[in-house]
Amino acid sequence: MGFITKMTLAMVVLSLFQKETKGQSASTATLTRNLLALSDPEVRPNADRTGPEITVNLFVTGAEKAGRPNVVTVGFWVQMLWIDPRLSWDPAQYNNITTVYLPARKLWLPNFAVWHSANPLEPFFSEEQRIAVVTSNGAVAWSPKGVITVYADQVTPGNYTSGATYQTQSIIGDWDLQDVEISVKAVGTTVDLSQQKNSGLQVTGTSLRSVIQSFEGFGRYPLLEVILNLQEQTRSA
Ligand SMILES: *[C@@H]1O[C@H](CO)[C@@H](O)[C@H](O)[C@H]1NC(C)=O
Ligand SMILES: *[C@@H]1O[C@H](CO)[C@@H](O)[C@H](O)[C@H]1NC(C)=O
Repeated sequence: MGFITKMTLAMVVLSLFQKETKGQSASTATLTRNLLALSDPEVRPNADRTGPEITVNLFVTGAEKAGRPNVVTVGFWVQMLWIDPRLSWDPAQYNNITTVYLPARKLWLPNFAVWHSANPLEPFFSEEQRIAVVTSNGAVAWSPKGVITVYADQVTPGNYTSGATYQTQSIIGDWDLQDVEISVKAVGTTVDLSQQKNSGLQVTGTSLRSVIQSFEGFGRYPLLEVILNLQEQTRSA
């Protein structure tokens, strides 16, 4: 085969391949375009009436002392789910597609903060998780990592057989003043510890619940209360 023939063959194969790929993603591409055209990161879902309910599930990944007396840092995976009716579609009109992956920065996202953070400038969410999973009923699932740095009360001192124990209470929820309508609901009554890695400080018990915090003139904020019991590990343990 001559050089030109090989080139031609390669180009034909390439163009066939491109056509094939283009064909197989066409419905997803159209759907993504149509959804993003209706999406508005500045306006919360159902803004004219109330707001979304955000269901939250927390997994501890690890805890450590933050280098200041009675301050601890705890890492999480944060699973969140809410309905944004602007992001729903009829699968029959899009080749039966029921799930798309959309860039999170183009969607409305909750602006969760740790209310009494010991590191007030530290954002709660990491910026790595850039994709949200959206299903045809408008359900948005977004699972970034989260970190809290908070004050902890020492409950018992350490000794040779067991380390000191601490308890910390954190309030997590939407920080923006206009967002009193956003409801936050915990999936369960505890934080999941199955993903926790061993460190010098172990989370030994948790409690998780929805609370309402009222502020004169500002309204009632639905928030999440996270209580963590922690124990320092001794060398023998
Ligand atoms: C979509 O699903 C319906 C119902 O299961 C089926 O009849 C139809 O052939 C599917 N369409 C495509 C394009 O796969
Ligand atoms: C060590 O601390 C643990 C937890 O506070 C306590 O239950 C235990 O009795 C203590 N042991 C000694 C020898 O003081």
